[in-house]
Amino acid sequence: MPETILIIDDEKAIRDSLAEILADEGFLPLTAASAEEGLHILDEQETDLVLLDIWLPGMDGLEALKLIKQRFSLPVIMISGHGTIETAVQATQSGAFYFIEKPLSYDKTVLVIRRGLQVARLERENRLLRESEPPLPTITGNSPVIRRLRQQIERVAPTDASVLILGKHGTGKELVAQTIHRLSARNRQPMIAVNCAAIPEELIESELFGHMKGAFTGATETKKGKFDQADGSTLFLDEIGDMSLKSQAKVLRILQEQQFERVGGSRTIGVDVRVLAATNKNLEEEIERGHFRADLFYRLNVIPIEVPDLVDRPEDIPLLVADFASQFRRKGMGDKQFTPEAFHLLQRHSWPGNVRELRNLIERLMIMTPSEVIQEEDVATSLGSTSGVPQRAMQTGTSYQHLAYKNARRQFETDYLRAKLEENDGNVSKTAEDIGMERSHLHKKLKALDITLK
Ligand SMILES: Nc1ncnc2c1ncn2[C@@H]1O[C@H](COP(=O)(O)OP(=O)(O)OP(=O)(O)O)[C@@H](O)[C@H]1O
Ligand SMILES: [Mg+2]
Repeated sequence: MPETILIIDDEKAIRDSLAEILADEGFLPLTAASAEEGLHILDEQETDLVLLDIWLPGMDGLEALKLIKQRFSLPVIMISGHGTIETAVQATQSGAFYFIEKPLSYDKTVLVIRRGLQVARLERENRLLRESEPPLPTITGNSPVIRRLRQQIERVAPTDASVLILGKHGTGKELVAQTIHRLSARNRQPMIAVNCAAIPEELIESELFGHMKGAFTGATETKKGKFDQADGSTLFLDEIGDMSLKSQAKVLRILQEQQFERVGGSRTIGVDVRVLAATNKNLEEEIERGHFRADLFYRLNVIPIEVPDLVDRPEDIPLLVADFASQFRRKGMGDKQFTPEAFHLLQRHSWPGNVRELRNLIERLMIMTPSEVIQEEDVATSLGSTSGVPQRAMQTGTSYQHLAYKNARRQFETDYLRAKLEENDGNVSKTAEDIGMERSHLHKKLKALDITLK
């Protein structure tokens, strides 16, 4: 389809000759002798670009430009016989794409029009791309506790203060850290996250501070650590309660001096890093037990933020469900509605795995429910199939009763551990803590039962 170009000029000769040339170039020209008439045409007809004279009877071109820019999103090229630098500047500030002077060079006019159309096309494409991108994750909820959490985040985010984020598994601690970073002046660089529980004790220093070539067996290259990578940005020390005392001492020093040495290196490196930390442990108790340094705690705890349990804010569940359902819909899992009874059941559950457990459940429901509407029974079945698997099976007596004791036990252990692992996103340390079993023992059990991790 040819692109439509509206020429607004009070000189008939100009309108006619421009229209002729534009038609020759394959455009569809429209003409108007005044701004008022031009605006009327824009209201009526899909237009791609406007050529607008500055001097017009009635409403002048600059005023018309402002109105056009307010109401439509299309490039406007200003034309004038009496162009001064000032009007040109004014026009550009009001959003004109370009400013050309009379007498018009037709070649140049066509060139500028083509460029204007191209820029508009790119902008349109960019906008479409942006709109199709998933929105940044946000803290969903409208309960008083979540509103307070959001306020705390907004207050602390623009500062450089260390923040200690406390909360149970799956409450959204990492999401809080991300949100603080995003609302801070450091947001042009990504936040660097370190999971202190996932890194073996002997590697954590090199992970955080980097190492020099040859510092230890296997250090074949000099490597930057997370503190280096986070220079000018934010470092998120996740599960800080699981860090060894030795590493805690080093982290404390950085927080105090903003400098450190690489493992095996002697040069002191200065960095500008904001530290956010999170834990689900009670650090005061850990201090008493001698597992956590009091001085580090006070340093990190400049601003403590507590993320509430999901069970304390059941009123947020419908919002969270809507949020997750639309996330999964974007991933192509279809469109499902929840009945009010289904919501009630979700609101009565105790959610030991908090928001993560809810999110996993919604995902499972969207995949497993064949109908468009998710009913209370679907939720009940799904809730039963995670944490409740063994209990349910025991109650109904279906799957274990016919088995010999040894096999029944094996079956029970398998079901139970699978469910618990799933609840904890396959994280062995968390599962071990959750069920009160030694991590190494759990590992052996999983191996013995032939349970593989996702
Ligand atoms: N208020 C919320 N609104 C929307 N999504 C949330 C909210 N809270 C948590 N989530 C989602 O729940 C999941 C778990 O959150 P997150 O990983 O931040 O929890 P966590 O406290 O760090 O958990 P863990 O202690 O197990 O590491 C994520 O998918 C996160 O996006
Ligand atoms: Mg986390």
